[in-house]
Formats: sequence, C-alpha cells, structure tokens
Amino acid sequence: MSVLDVKDEYVGQADVGVVGLATMGANLCLNILDKGFKLAVYNRTTATSEKFVSDNRAKYGDKLTGAANFADFAKLLKKPRRAMILVVAGPITDGVIQSLSDVFEKDDIIVDTGNAHFKDQTDRANMLEAKGLRFLGMGVSGGAEGARKGPAFFPGGTLSIWDEVKEIVEAASAKAIDGRPCVTMCGSGGAGSCVKMYHNAGEYAILQLWGEVYAAMRGAGMDGDQIQKELTRWKSLGDLDSYMLDITIEVAGHKNAESPSGFLVDVTGDAIGSKGTGLWSVQVAMEVGCPCPSLAAAVVSRQMSMEHIQRRLNHAIIGGETSKASEHARKAEAAFHEEFCRDLYWAAYLAIVASYAQMFEAIRAVDREYKLNIVGNLPRIISTFRAGCILQGSMLQPMTEAFEKNPNIPNLMCAFGKQIGEGMPGFRATCGRLVLSGESMPVLQASLCYMVTMSQNIILAGQAVSLQRDVFGRHGFKKIRDGQLTEESYNEEWPEMAP
Ligand code: 6PG
Repeated sequence: MSVLDVKDEYVGQADVGVVGLATMGANLCLNILDKGFKLAVYNRTTATSEKFVSDNRAKYGDKLTGAANFADFAKLLKKPRRAMILVVAGPITDGVIQSLSDVFEKDDIIVDTGNAHFKDQTDRANMLEAKGLRFLGMGVSGGAEGARKGPAFFPGGTLSIWDEVKEIVEAASAKAIDGRPCVTMCGSGGAGSCVKMYHNAGEYAILQLWGEVYAAMRGAGMDGDQIQKELTRWKSLGDLDSYMLDITIEVAGHKNAESPSGFLVDVTGDAIGSKGTGLWSVQVAMEVGCPCPSLAAAVVSRQMSMEHIQRRLNHAIIGGETSKASEHARKAEAAFHEEFCRDLYWAAYLAIVASYAQMFEAIRAVDREYKLNIVGNLPRIISTFRAGCILQGSMLQPMTEAFEKNPNIPNLMCAFGKQIGEGMPGFRATCGRLVLSGESMPVLQASLCYMVTMSQNIILAGQAVSLQRDVFGRHGFKKIRDGQLTEESYNEEWPEMAP
C-alpha cells in the first residue's frame, strides 16, 4: 500500500497537477491547496512524492493526491487536464513535456513555469498544438517564499487556454495594494517568458546597482552596521522601498562568526553565477536595435566577476595603478559623508529609473520584431510587478500609473522629470566621485550614460562618427534640417587619406 496508489475515487478529480516537488514546486502546491483546489503531484523521485503526500494528507485530505508515474498522474486529473511544470529549465523540462504529451489527450493543457527563452516557448507551443495539446509558457517570480505566499506570474500563449487556468493562477498569485492579482496574460506565443526574461534582466541590473551602492559606501569607509543604518533610512523615505533593497540591507550587515570583520560578506566569494535569462535578454535587445546599457552592464559585471583567476593575475601586475584612488577624492568622501550619501541616494534612484526604462523599451522593441502582442498589455503587466516578484517595490506604483495614463509614453524616464531635475546633480557627483576614488560601478555609469544620451537632441560624438565613416568608406551621412534628419544621404569630398 502506498499513498500514491490511485484509488477509484481519485480518478479525474484533481483540478490541476504539478510536476516537480523541489522547493518552488512544493511551495506552489501548498499555496494552491490553501486556495481550496484539488491537486495531483508527480515527482521523478517517487519517495519525494510519497513524502509530500504523506506529510500533507492530514491537512488537505483527499484534495491532495500523488502519482508514481506519468500515466497515473494523467488519470488523477480532471479533463481537459491542466498540469504545471516546475522542474529545471531546458532539457529536463523538454523531457517532462514529452512524457506528459505521451499520456495527455487532445485539448489537455501543459503550463511550463521555467525560466525559458521566449523563442523556445513559442516552439513548444507550436509543437504541442500540432499534436492537439495546448501550451502556456508562464514565468513565475518570487523565489521559494513567493511560491508559498503568492508569487507574480507571467503567462503567454493562446488566450482561450489562459481562460481555462486563470482561476487557479489568479487565486495563487500575490495581490497588489489595490487588490489586483499579480498576473495578467502577457500576449501570444512566448510572451510570458519574454516578460519574465526582461523581469530578470531588470533584476540583474538592480541587484548589481545595489551591490555598487554597497561598494561605494564601503569605499567611503562605512562598515556593515553603518551601511545597514543608512540604507534603512533610505527605505524609510519610501520611494526606494523594495524587496531588492531589503535583501541588500540584510546582506550588508549580516554577521558571521568565522569572518574576521564579523560580517559574512567579507568572506564571501565574488564570482556571480547566472542561469542565462539576463544574457538572453541583452542579446535579443541588441539584435533588435534596442539600447540597454544598464542591463548589458549587469551581465558584463557578472562575466567579469567570473574571471577571478585572470583578475588576480592582472591585479598583481597592474592593480596598484588601476585602482589607485585620488587622495583628494578619498578625503572628500570622508569629510562630506552626508553629502556623499545624499548624492548616492539620487544616483541609485535614477539608475533604477534608467534600468526600468531600458527594460520596458526592450520589451516594446522585441514585441515589435517578434509580434508577441505584448505592447497593448504593457500597463497591466507593469502593474503585476508591484507585488510577489523580485522586482516588487514602491516605485512600481508610479510606473504603473505612468503607463496607464499614457501607454505611448516615449520612455519611462519622461514620467520622472521632477526626480531627474532634483537628483541629476547628485547622480553626476556620485559617478565623478567614484571614478576619482578608483571604484568600478558598471551599472551606475551605464545608467548615467543612458539617461544623458537618450535625452540628448544632438549627440556630438554621433555627428563626428557619421562623418568618419564617410571619409574612409563613403558610407554617406544625413543632415539636420529644421530639427529633423534628412531622408537623403550625402557624401562629402574628403582629402586623400589612406590608412
Ligand atoms: C525570480 C527570479 C528567479 C531567479 C532567476 C535568475 O523572479 O524569482 O528571477 O527566477 O533568480 O532564475 O537567476 P540567475 O541569477 O541565476 O540567472
């Protein structure tokens, strides 16, 4: 006798099935059960399914069933069947999709929640729909705790399929301050995974940015306790209050007995791993011609962090020169501590705005190219970032309002004119100061560059480079007439200049 034996009264009863009982999967199961749905589970290791069902039977009774194989799992589900996959993204997910499609029947629905590339989700949808099955690619954000208490979901695919799983997903999702569920249909094909990819690219940029703020404060002589105190003050000001700031506050001051300084961060390895979503986001944005320097800088920062062997070799030879601080800058930091922190606050604030602006512009540009029908849903999608997910924070509220008021807003930065006016001097001062004190701050600098360049009428360097290309390649250049670029291209007569 096993708790996974399929009794007659269990057949065709479960509202939804979950494949994968690692932390995220198990937590999402408990969340769904708490909302009153009947659930069937399957995990590759049978003992894990047995344990999960046994541990939770007392609380949920026969609302929770489990299966030892895919055929039994299919028997437990109400038709048309609905199954969510929470296993490792990539080939393991493909294997589960294959196994489910072997036992599922026409019109049954498979929902993959993995951090997949949106192009792969579009391919999976086409492959399964050709077999008569139905598919949704649905990103989930919020980590293990989010899965238990209510994450944000990013579904994409065919609208009629969404209508059939919506009730369960909305019930399990986080709710924003106005009570709206943090889930909306993002668009067609791989739209949900596309939104999740850019959610993650924003996550990379803002995590890195908070890392740079931490490093700047350390460089100015603050210890973990002082950093914690200062960042807690920033949080209390409201606008920057967010999950990513909360975890930075925790990380900065977290104590550890083995660490000579007393802080865990000082004995922590600096190589930052990644699973791919940030890189894919930047690759696709670049391919479709959408500039996203802060997102790219975050990916590059992780890549540089991984080069720890080369960094150490370089450091032994040139490190003394490259990280040499201007004495003046160091003294200024210590002497003007209050001013340093105030300016750094604005640098963080505006870099966050710039990072979100790039994220939203990249989604718009990718959508134009791949026709995922995301843009019409963008205001609602942004509203779903307000709770449950890693990005959640106060600033998502004015961002939601900006896009709801004007979905065609040229760029998110236009909704933050007042803050840009107030904070730009501090942003510039911070970047200047950190350059002089020998710090590396890829996302802060890239964000300043984006904010300045993307609001310039004329890019002087752009004018010069356009002519350089004409000198050696006769590539032609546009002119500016009445404030607009001319349609036609021109060539100039240049003197002979062989390279
Ligand atoms: C989330 C996270 C989560 C995870 C990503 C990024 O929204 O809950 O984005 O999905 O952190 O996989 O992971 P990497 O940093 O390893 O690429």
